Amino acid sequence: MLARVCSLASLGLAALVLNAVPAFSAANDVTLFYDNPLIFYHGRWDASPGTWWASSGFNLVVDNLSSLILNLGPHTTSPLVSLGLSVNYDTVYTFNASAGSNAIPLSNVQTGPNVVRINVEGWQNNRVNLESIVLNPGAVVLPYIPSPLAFQFIGDSLSAGQYLSEGVDQAWPLLTSQYFKAEGTVNAQPGAALADIYAWGNVHGVSYQFFRTEDTGFYSTTDHNYTTPWNFTLDHPKPTHLVIHIGANDASQNVSQALFTQTYMDFIARLRTIYVYQPIFVFTPWGWPAADGSISYYYTGAYQTVVDQRHASGDENIFLVNTTGWVSWEDVFPTNQHPTVEGHQKIAGLFETWLETWGLQAGPFWPSLP
Ligand SMILES: *[C@@H]1O[C@H](CO)[C@@H](O)[C@H](O)[C@H]1NC(C)=O
Ligand SMILES: *[C@@H]1O[C@H](CO)[C@@H](O)[C@H](O)[C@H]1NC(C)=O
Ligand SMILES: *[C@@H]1O[C@H](CO)[C@@H](O)[C@H](O)[C@H]1NC(C)=O
Ligand SMILES: *[C@@H]1O[C@H](CO)[C@@H](O)[C@H](O)[C@H]1NC(C)=O
Ligand SMILES: *[C@@H]1O[C@H](CO)[C@@H](O)[C@H](O)[C@H]1NC(C)=O
Ligand SMILES: *[C@@H]1O[C@H](CO)[C@@H](O)[C@H](O)[C@H]1NC(C)=O
Repeated sequence: MLARVCSLASLGLAALVLNAVPAFSAANDVTLFYDNPLIFYHGRWDASPGTWWASSGFNLVVDNLSSLILNLGPHTTSPLVSLGLSVNYDTVYTFNASAGSNAIPLSNVQTGPNVVRINVEGWQNNRVNLESIVLNPGAVVLPYIPSPLAFQFIGDSLSAGQYLSEGVDQAWPLLTSQYFKAEGTVNAQPGAALADIYAWGNVHGVSYQFFRTEDTGFYSTTDHNYTTPWNFTLDHPKPTHLVIHIGANDASQNVSQALFTQTYMDFIARLRTIYVYQPIFVFTPWGWPAADGSISYYYTGAYQTVVDQRHASGDENIFLVNTTGWVSWEDVFPTNQHPTVEGHQKIAGLFETWLETWGLQAGPFWPSLP
């Protein structure tokens, strides 16, 4: 696609002349149309271009930054889509955007290059249809150079950050990514089973939907009521580590242990056709804690079986992460047994320690910051 950076020259002087008393000179703004290659898209975007799946978004590196406007198109969730914003890897904050022009508040802006990260927080109402980005006059856009580490997480509500006010941005997968100064993509669908069955409003399971551009929300969407294959050559950047935590909704739909195990084996085999060499981390469930201190587990032994069978078939690069005991009653919301903000932080901390013991080290610097 052609780069279209709108410069003073390309807009022409007419705009300046027509605006007799401009509050500012729009002609001097730096505009990036959606197809500008300096926009570092990540996650799953359709051709509009529009986001699906929590965590999809884009990064920008901007020197001399003071203002940022997002112009969003008609496929943006109405009335709003919650965006998670972070400048220079500072704490994420929320901005609720809508179709049309959105002036984005910026915090933690520095002199010199700034890394602006914007993603969708929600697993539903998560569609951003990006038309253009307008920056202040004098802004200089630089390429975003991603981290050499890139996690791909696959899961359900327990990975999507369901019930958290900032959604996936407060959930353990992206906390872990941030800790390792890594890229992080989360394909996690609350309510979905791994098996391709109907579950809790999802018309497909993750073993099907992971290979699609859209999350299962496509089905309740009037302007995009269809699903298309994901072109994995568009994975950006290519994942270096895969993490899977799934099974809760198979269990709640009474998928048998034998069928679940077989579905998991088939899923890994298909993943391996795309991600040939990457380590895969298979979480056992941390279970559903109850007020009396007990924890209800599901598919005990199945995850070990999957890993053992892969090893037996010659795939040594797959690892069981035993999360037994990681989550207890005080870590979850009493009403739905999903981890709280602090619960997600605890899980992230335990997984970070696990990965360090395994041999992973945090990157030495933040991507694209000097
Ligand atoms: C964003 O919108 C949601 C409602 O969907 C609201 O609960 C939240 O407070 C809003 N956040 C901000 C920062 O405006
Ligand atoms: C930074 O932007 C301001 C306008 O916002 C402009 O006057 C200045 O020349 C720019 N500085 C650089 C180094 O580009
Ligand atoms: C989407 O299409 C399916 C048929 O493929 C239909 O059953 C469903 O009601 C449609 N949803 C919307 C929101 O139009
Ligand atoms: C996938 O994307 C690549 C890179 O843009 C492109 O070359 C290829 O044709 C695409 N494949 C399909 C099936 O669309
Ligand atoms: C699963 O089995 C339990 C116990 O037999 C039953 O109560 C429940 O309705 C079943 N759920 C589904 C989705 O079939
Ligand atoms: C996971 O850890 C628990 C507690 O330490 C232990 O009882 C269980 O056997 C372990 N499971 C596997 C599959 O290693």
